[in-house]
Amino acid sequence: MFAISLGEGAELRPLEPWRAEEFLAHMDRGREFVGRHIGLADATTDLAGARAWLQSYADKAVTDTGRLYGIWLDGLLVGGVLFRTFDATAGTCEAGCWLEPAAAGHGLATRGSRVIIDWAIRERGIHRVEWQVSDLNTPSINVAKRLGMTREGVLRQNYLYRGERQNTEVWAVLAHEWLAANALA
Ligand SMILES: CC(C)(COP(=O)(O)OP(=O)(O)OC[C@H]1O[C@@H](n2cnc3c(N)ncnc32)[C@H](O)[C@@H]1OP(=O)(O)O)[C@@H](O)C(=O)NCCC(=O)NCCS
Repeated sequence: MFAISLGEGAELRPLEPWRAEEFLAHMDRGREFVGRHIGLADATTDLAGARAWLQSYADKAVTDTGRLYGIWLDGLLVGGVLFRTFDATAGTCEAGCWLEPAAAGHGLATRGSRVIIDWAIRERGIHRVEWQVSDLNTPSINVAKRLGMTREGVLRQNYLYRGERQNTEVWAVLAHEWLAANALA
């Protein structure tokens, strides 16, 4: 199976439904941390939920409407990066990421996101990569900044999460901005 090195023992690989047990064990380690702002933790509390969530991304890959990749650190699944939406015709997509707490603070989410955004823009002709994030989620906002994204606005109280309405910040990078900032050596 192919793997892309993220350096320092970390690798990016496809994260597919057959890995549901490994994914569930990872989510069990990270559930509280991952679930503070996003629904992934609550959607994958058992093996059936984990398998269904991974399958939903396998289905998106088949229809070219989304992608999912895991991040392994020294052989342990510790997080991932994804395209929640992907529309090659319109040239738009929305990226995202998560990590279990032990793997945070090393740049893995930013490096993994860079790989998939670079692929989307250079190989797939995507023009606009979006990042939607709760305005309370400072670590994720910092990832968007490190990716060179621009804060475009706030969807006020649009996201009902665990009984509370959250504001969603919209960040994005356009293809010409990405290519100017990430020139090939
Ligand atoms: C969002 C999330 C993935 C960010 O994780 P993170 O570890 O802060 O982000 P990165 O992996 O890019 O690491 C960056 C941090 O590592 C540090 N770092 C250490 N070594 C590094 C290196 N070699 N390269 C880059 N950064 C490095 C950076 O300084 C930064 O720390 P800082 O923010 O304290 O300055 C994580 O908080 C998370 O999983 N949250 C729960 C799920 C979630 O909310 N996902 C986002 C949905 S929108």
